[in-house]
Amino acid sequence: MPVRVLFLFGTRPEAIKLCPVVLHFRSQPERFEVRVCVTAQHRGMLDQVLGAFEVQPDYDLNLMQPGQTLFQSTARMMAALEPVLMGADGWKPEIAFVQGDTTTTLCGALAAFYARVPVGHIEAGLRTGDLAQPFPEEMNRVLTGRMADLHFAATSWAADNLRREGVADERIWVTGNTGIDAVLHVKRGLEAGTMVADTDWSRLNPAKKLIVVTAHRRESFGSGFERICQALADLAERPDVEIVYPVHPNPNVQDPVTRLLAHRPNVHRIAPLDYVPFIDLMRRAYLLITDSGGVQEEGPSLGKPILVLREKTERPEAVAAGTVKLVGTDRGKILLEANRLLDDPKLRDAMALVHNPYGDGRASERIADATASFFSR
Ligand code: UD1
Ligand code: UDP
Repeated sequence: MPVRVLFLFGTRPEAIKLCPVVLHFRSQPERFEVRVCVTAQHRGMLDQVLGAFEVQPDYDLNLMQPGQTLFQSTARMMAALEPVLMGADGWKPEIAFVQGDTTTTLCGALAAFYARVPVGHIEAGLRTGDLAQPFPEEMNRVLTGRMADLHFAATSWAADNLRREGVADERIWVTGNTGIDAVLHVKRGLEAGTMVADTDWSRLNPAKKLIVVTAHRRESFGSGFERICQALADLAERPDVEIVYPVHPNPNVQDPVTRLLAHRPNVHRIAPLDYVPFIDLMRRAYLLITDSGGVQEEGPSLGKPILVLREKTERPEAVAAGTVKLVGTDRGKILLEANRLLDDPKLRDAMALVHNPYGDGRASERIADATASFFSR
């Protein structure tokens, strides 16, 4: 009998990292009966990913509210997840998969725990060791790990973190990050011409160095964001650069970015891009500046150097490999490091090696095999 598998997700990064896994599980109907539940913690940003991967959810809880607080989204989610995990429609999952560290991840794991459904945690074991950074994601990931029965670690470093916390070896699988399955799939599609980005980049000046920026972390709201935007405004003084910043729709991000970066002719503030055009944009970049976890992982697959707008990262592997550098939210430091890379193409190229410590594009396959073997015991 196929194992009844539920995938639970709600935000853009979870969708990007779970859709390849859903498709892989769905391609094996003899092993798995798959259902997908989206909380829609994000709405537009989630839907574009579902569209790109052609994944139709079986349950759509449609929970996003503009400007939602952590309290509000957590409370709404727990109530809405109860019937899905309890099998109110007659279909109770035998395992629930969650991914990463968001509110949906935490609530999904907790709801599964209450329903006595085993939890599979994908991208388990990442740690900064500081519960305030990233906030609240570090705590979400720690708590989800405590509730998980199967732990899918992207790297051996993440697996070691779990072992140190007492997780049994036979419950941990090192699989690579499923986000690399997604980015390599799109990269190959763009290169082969089987995928098109469908975006007009003609207003970008090819003679200028393109800097692609994303930033949205909660711990940077307020003064951190002011400093990030001031540093970008300083950088935009250079006549040889062009900055493209797809701005996260969170009002705490939109407001400072609009206030501090409007009227800069070489700073293009645009709406969040769909996944395929965003990968295409990153391919064209000289440099990425970001606080995103996913972009930190994707950059090395595209051979792009990255300055990370965080004091600490739960993804140290690319820092060790030299393709990522932490610059925090210090205006002077961001400017200094960006200028160094802009002024010294050799330094930039040395940082831009195509090497990915996060995966080889086969994580979904390993997760499916591990799940099947777990249920055949
Ligand atoms: C969440 C995650 C964060 C992840 C980020 C990815 C938590 C605690 N944080 O943060 O780890 O990096 O998603 O983007 O779960 N909004 C829209 N449309 C959308 C999406 C968001 O308008 O498609 C706006 C809404 O006003 C929403 C707000 O953004 O209320 C914040 O969304 P929320 O999911 O609460 O937090 P994020 O900051 O996106
Ligand atoms: N991304 C996207 N469009 C954009 C910006 C980012 O599709 O305009 C993708 C990016 O390639 C990565 C993911 O969104 O896969 C990262 O999501 P986000 O930064 O929202 O969350 P995080 O990774 O920080 O949790």
